[in-house]
Amino acid sequence: MSVTIKDLQAYKREGRRFAMLTAYDFTTARILDEAGVPVILVGDSLGNTMLGYDTTLPVTMEEMLHHTRAVRRGLKNALLVGDMPFMSYHASAEDAIRNAGRFLQDGGANAVKLEGAGRVVELTERLTAMGIPVMAHLGLTPQFVNQMGGFKVQGRSDEAAERIQRDALALQEAGAFSMVLEGIPASLGGLISRRLDIPTIGIGAGPDTDAQVLVIQDMLGLSGERVPKFVKRFADLRGAMTTAVGDFMAEVEGGTFPGPEHSYGTGAAPSPAPAEAAIYGAADKG
Ligand code: KIV
Repeated sequence: MSVTIKDLQAYKREGRRFAMLTAYDFTTARILDEAGVPVILVGDSLGNTMLGYDTTLPVTMEEMLHHTRAVRRGLKNALLVGDMPFMSYHASAEDAIRNAGRFLQDGGANAVKLEGAGRVVELTERLTAMGIPVMAHLGLTPQFVNQMGGFKVQGRSDEAAERIQRDALALQEAGAFSMVLEGIPASLGGLISRRLDIPTIGIGAGPDTDAQVLVIQDMLGLSGERVPKFVKRFADLRGAMTTAVGDFMAEVEGGTFPGPEHSYGTGAAPSPAPAEAAIYGAADKG
């Protein structure tokens, strides 16, 4: 059974915590889906992880849709959320609605994510009314990096914390089905989560949000040496890749790869095993 936004809201009522992860490609999406991750976000963090930008600001709609379609093809059960990139919902409401619609129509997403409040509150109301579910995103909102003066923890003063709470309530009122809370004090993450009926999904927002999200490259240990304090590396795939690539190079240079078991013979051979026939075609025997 595919996960729906109603399921996530039921999880909140039941006090059932859940995980969200980012994915940007078919292979990763399929692994995460098969592992049972209920929500997959094609984050505009793909600007950093896939495209090598310093910020998410250069990411375009076309890049987001390209990756969203790839992820869609890898999913059977997870709810797929597409992240609306910088300037795709800023110039006008018409622009925003058209671009949000493209995530569902062209990308196969089930919902979109928008950063910030202000104008986004009204936009959330309009999108929701049109059948486009909205995941809100408050706190450290990377598309506001220039306004924030860097990637800094938000909501540390009483005034800032109160503003984030007001924005959170307004976005919920406008129809957001869930909310990412990024880079805020743990106490504020817990407070907002208790005040809202919709699930909160924390990243650097402490342990008391309803769900947690991490960027897949960060949690698998594929990012560089410096990662934010909130990242936990659950694996060292960078180390594993480096070892595997080194082993491959050594075997190629030493002439031990490919061996006979990875090489084809000539002439007639017995019928290929079904898997081999399917992968290489029935004519490609032996
Ligand atoms: O772009 C992204 O990956 C995100 C998550 C970190 C929430 O917005």
